[in-house]
Amino acid sequence: MTDVVIRPMRPEDVPVAEELSLAAYTDAERFEPPSLVPASPRHSPTRASRWITRTNHLLDTDPGGCWVAEVDGQVVGFAVSFRRDLLWVLASYAVRSGLQGQGIGRPLLEAALSYSRGCLRGMFASSSDPKAYRVYRRAGFSLHPELHLAGVPDRSVIPVVEHVREGTPADFDLMDSLDRQRRDAAHGPDHPLLASLHRLLVIDRPTGSGYVYLHESGAPQLLAASNRRTAARLLWEAIASAPAGEPLEIAHVTPANEWAVDIGLEARLSVSTRGYLALRGMQPPTPYLPHSSLL
Ligand SMILES: CC(C)(COP(=O)(O)OP(=O)(O)OC[C@H]1O[C@@H](n2cnc3c(N)ncnc32)[C@H](O)[C@@H]1OP(=O)(O)O)[C@@H](O)C(=O)NCCC(=O)NCCS
Repeated sequence: MTDVVIRPMRPEDVPVAEELSLAAYTDAERFEPPSLVPASPRHSPTRASRWITRTNHLLDTDPGGCWVAEVDGQVVGFAVSFRRDLLWVLASYAVRSGLQGQGIGRPLLEAALSYSRGCLRGMFASSSDPKAYRVYRRAGFSLHPELHLAGVPDRSVIPVVEHVREGTPADFDLMDSLDRQRRDAAHGPDHPLLASLHRLLVIDRPTGSGYVYLHESGAPQLLAASNRRTAARLLWEAIASAPAGEPLEIAHVTPANEWAVDIGLEARLSVSTRGYLALRGMQPPTPYLPHSSLL
């Protein structure tokens, strides 16, 4: 292989990285175990535009965590990482299909990891690609299997949930404090971004508080709560918001979040394993359903 150059990511690299990540992640699906309900297709214009918006946001907040690999002047890989408080997060990481397994990914991850210096904890969602597993283990991460709940929910079992309301920017302080309780780090600037992309629901009661961002399919994108009972109410509300008769996916559920598995089973969703939550210096957060890239 000709020389690989690792350099900081620039805004003009982001659309190339999006295309490259779509192909590499779609390719990596073959490492997932078979499931009764296949995951929704990765390719959609909305998904692509949200990926670009998120990555531009991270390049803006954390330019020192974003790197690309170049061969002959062409971008062939990238790693996007960021820090919130003392938590380091790897948002996205891929090498062009066909060039993987040739030593490009390792120095890319090393560049991103140099940005984790001083962070006590690390967290990200890993695919089931054994090459990814290998580089993450070498970097000292523990990989916790994640569950994927999917199917058309049985609406007859959905309970009436009270005291849930639409969230506003006035809730961001409360949400940051819930983030600190659950993962020792606020989402900070990520909340305004997430709220611009998704519907936000909040519970703020003396008995418990929590929040959830929802995809238009009803899929929770990120959920944090002060206790399991409040988390369960938010998840039921998410299921209730799903269009009737349409499939729903609840992803990134670690076994530490059995409250969510129990709800999925009650709603007659199927359960399969899919990917890992990679952690360093911390245990799987609960009650918490992480965001796929902003965790
Ligand atoms: C994960 C990924 C970014 C790594 O980049 P890469 O260029 O393939 O990585 P490298 O070649 O530098 O390193 C791969 C390591 O896996 C090892 N490896 C290769 N094939 C393997 C296999 N089948 N099983 C186990 N290990 C394997 C290599 O020997 C190497 O380890 P070493 O450096 O200790 O020898 C890349 O494979 C990729 O894009 N995969 C698809 C998308 C994905 O899963 N991204 C991660 C999402 S979290």
